[in-house]
Amino acid sequence: MSQTAEIKVDGKTFELPIIEGSEGEKAIDISKLRAQTGLITLDPGFKNTGSTQSAITFLDGEKGILRHRGYSIEDLAEKSSFLEVAYLTIYGNKPSAEEIKSFQDEITKHTLVHEDIKKVLDGFPSNSHPMGVLSSLVTSLTAFYPESLDPNRSKDAVNLSIIRIIAKMPTFAAWAYKNKMGHPANYPDNSLNYGSNFLKMMFALPTEKYDVDPVVAKALDKLLILHADHEQNCSASTVRIVGSSQASLYASISAGINALWGPLHGGANQAVIEMLEAIKADGGDTSKYIEKAKDKNDPFRLMGFGHRVYKNFDPRARIIKKAADEVLEKLGVNDPILDIAKGLEEVALKDEYFVARNLYPNVDFYSGIIYRALGIPTEMFTVMFALGRLPGWIAQWKEMRENNEPIGRPRQIYTGSNHRDY
Ligand code: SDX
Repeated sequence: MSQTAEIKVDGKTFELPIIEGSEGEKAIDISKLRAQTGLITLDPGFKNTGSTQSAITFLDGEKGILRHRGYSIEDLAEKSSFLEVAYLTIYGNKPSAEEIKSFQDEITKHTLVHEDIKKVLDGFPSNSHPMGVLSSLVTSLTAFYPESLDPNRSKDAVNLSIIRIIAKMPTFAAWAYKNKMGHPANYPDNSLNYGSNFLKMMFALPTEKYDVDPVVAKALDKLLILHADHEQNCSASTVRIVGSSQASLYASISAGINALWGPLHGGANQAVIEMLEAIKADGGDTSKYIEKAKDKNDPFRLMGFGHRVYKNFDPRARIIKKAADEVLEKLGVNDPILDIAKGLEEVALKDEYFVARNLYPNVDFYSGIIYRALGIPTEMFTVMFALGRLPGWIAQWKEMRENNEPIGRPRQIYTGSNHRDY
């Protein structure tokens, strides 16, 4: 039974349709609101506004539920692989044995990057932040694959663009790292799987043999799964709105990388470690930093805490916290900032300020501790997030394109000067 909402303005009543999703979520469809009432809505940060209807990811912030195409993040993290989750997220169903093999083979075929893209990389000084390098390398794909500029080309052409960026992103990410270290860039080793190939491109040096540690490869695969998609977050919404102008997949993904860079979004995993390091350097006094986070006059925020949607707990944070204990133990790493992180969490979860605002550890709170144990430098943490989020960005862009969604162009309420004679 279709429901409606009534809105009363200046004594007139207007009826607006209410739509319901497959998980019982309801929304007032305001697509005809202005035509009917002359009014628009205002919702800075879109905290109450749905931008689209999507079948990719379901989140329930109150219950701490995260599912991709119906599969729970707990099951996927435990039983799946990153490339299987990428396939599921992008194409909608788990791949058959043949489908995943062909997907992996296709990706392996495209890991090499045009040699001239090295010239883009060489233009970046070693102190460049790897996220800026990554977004530039992704944008450079538009020059080397001009056919990718047409998002409405044949299904096969769009799919080839998708395969190419999934295949080349680890190469770009590793090159961004090598550029930072002042080391020679490595080429992909197609005898290795996705994660192991990335680790080898990252850490292999011409001076010594490099063997991928299976514990590290498994931990990395799980971390990539946990970052695969998160419905209409800041960077995914950026990818959608850039793609809504019919800009190419690569231009849209590059925009998503830049949105993820911000410390309130994917950049938080870097900011968490910097915060924990500062607390450690300051004698490990967590209560001082809890007070700073609560002080409205202090810009300091408890990085890795709070979430726009999760008002109970972030299921990914629980999985990562457990994985952090396992990985550090297996690798024999004793990282004092893990203890500081746990101490901070313990104090915050009891503190009225955080409890009243439903502030819990999010995906970024513990991920940096694992990345550190895997030998990944702090400035590369958000690049790791981008590597994991790539399938989600692709899936969101593909769904928006296939649904032929209109160009995104929000309205505003003008508050500036009225007409003035020149
Ligand atoms: C990600 O959207 C996604 O799905 C994102 C993500 C994904 O997978 O794509 O999950 C990944 O980005 C996780 C979030 C990483 N960011 C951080 O850890 C940065 C620290 N957290 C915040 O800045 C904040 O919690 C946000 C940005 C995550 C959410 O901000 P909101 O929803 O806009 O909430 P808000 O800023 O309005 O905060 C509500 C209240 C405010 O206090 P009052 O004005 O009500 O008194 O909570 C306070 C805020 O000051 N608050 C914090 C806080 N987070 C919110 N106070 C101290 N420390 C914090 N971390």
